[in-house]
Amino acid sequence: MTKSLLLGQTIHFDQSPFDVPVDAAASHNSQGGILLENGMITDVGTAASLRARHPDAVIKDYGDHLIVAGFVDAHVHYPQTGIIASWGKRLIDWLNTYTFPEEMRFADADYAAEISNRYLDLTRSHGVTTMASYGTIHPTSVTAFFEAAQKRGQRVVAGKTCMDRNAPDGLRDTAQRAYDESKALIEQWQGVDRISYAITPRFSPTSTAEQLAALGALWAEHPDCLMQTHLSEQTDEIEWVHSLFPNARDYLDTYEAYGLLGEKGMYGHAIHLEPRERDRLKEVGAGLVHCPTSNTFIGSGLFDLNGLMQAGHTIGLATDTGGGSSFSMLRTMAAAYEIAHLRHTSLHAAQLLWLATAGSAAAMHMGDKIGNLQVGLEADLVVLDLASTPDISQRSARANDIWESLFATIMMGDDRAIHDVWINGRNTPHT
Ligand code: GUN
Ligand code: ZN
Repeated sequence: MTKSLLLGQTIHFDQSPFDVPVDAAASHNSQGGILLENGMITDVGTAASLRARHPDAVIKDYGDHLIVAGFVDAHVHYPQTGIIASWGKRLIDWLNTYTFPEEMRFADADYAAEISNRYLDLTRSHGVTTMASYGTIHPTSVTAFFEAAQKRGQRVVAGKTCMDRNAPDGLRDTAQRAYDESKALIEQWQGVDRISYAITPRFSPTSTAEQLAALGALWAEHPDCLMQTHLSEQTDEIEWVHSLFPNARDYLDTYEAYGLLGEKGMYGHAIHLEPRERDRLKEVGAGLVHCPTSNTFIGSGLFDLNGLMQAGHTIGLATDTGGGSSFSMLRTMAAAYEIAHLRHTSLHAAQLLWLATAGSAAAMHMGDKIGNLQVGLEADLVVLDLASTPDISQRSARANDIWESLFATIMMGDDRAIHDVWINGRNTPHT
């Protein structure tokens, strides 16, 4: 069995930097290391101590580069890869004009496989090692994505997107079909290798009450599965929900009433929440997913990250590809920082890194598997070059500490800052 000893600067988290001061939450080692064996992290420490403890390990010395956990993107639509950065529409028009026509193409299994592989190649180049993706209405879209991820040894979550109204011909199922097809995919894939299934009603405007109830029943039968959907992204969407569900107390109630509110639920966007919605989401310990580049790109609003964190919510970070305008979690962290500023709050570089790794992993109930450099977690890592361009390099040279240096890469970095990526203990793509 090969032991790989990776040396470089390292950062890991002992606690959340939203709960305790950064110095207590995060550990930085300027000459640190990680030992990988069989796809797992089996030792961490200083370079010197690791060298002494593991003289038989194969050493990969990254010098001054920074080794952190692989990035975790808690909300994406991989089928929207080809239409990312489409110009000029608000949510509902954007769905109708760009998204639905593209999603129609995933009836073709070959196209689904092509885009799955393209998406996983692109995101790997951005250091994203795990993501929770929506499929399309077609079960083949999920199968193609899982097969591509499985080949790469990658931990991923996905689900068939369910819609039985307010979507074009060819992109609608029924309550029964949504139940049957989701159930078949769960039986085939849940827990196979590093694959997890998320029951996926797109959002309540595109599901009848009957479909939401069928998926709620399915979740009750498979409580180990995650559930992902959208919540309160834009104000006109919320009005639409009120007109479609006149008896619902609020948007969240359209999920709650049908068994779709729970601890393993991940609610994307969650920008315009009523006090009752905030209370209930907190009470059940549900995951909220902040999608900052999407929220500015589609003009949705400013997520209350600091307020919700202080109230004790579980929050992950996500690109929302392709409503979001970038595959990069560095760019996504930068956008989260900018939105926090527009809300007259601030986020430390440690908080941004935590959100993109341990925070997203926690929102996906995978904190015991991924999202940190800890013994016993899986070996998904990113090696960051903190001087990847002349712009960043000249700023980084003046940094007083690791956080200042990392912050320059967060704000200005792109895929050039991703020096190496390890997935499942390997830094060579599995394809
Ligand atoms: N709400 C429902 N579907 C979508 C989607 O595909 N993207 C975004 N941003 N919001 C949605
Ligand atoms: Zn989305």
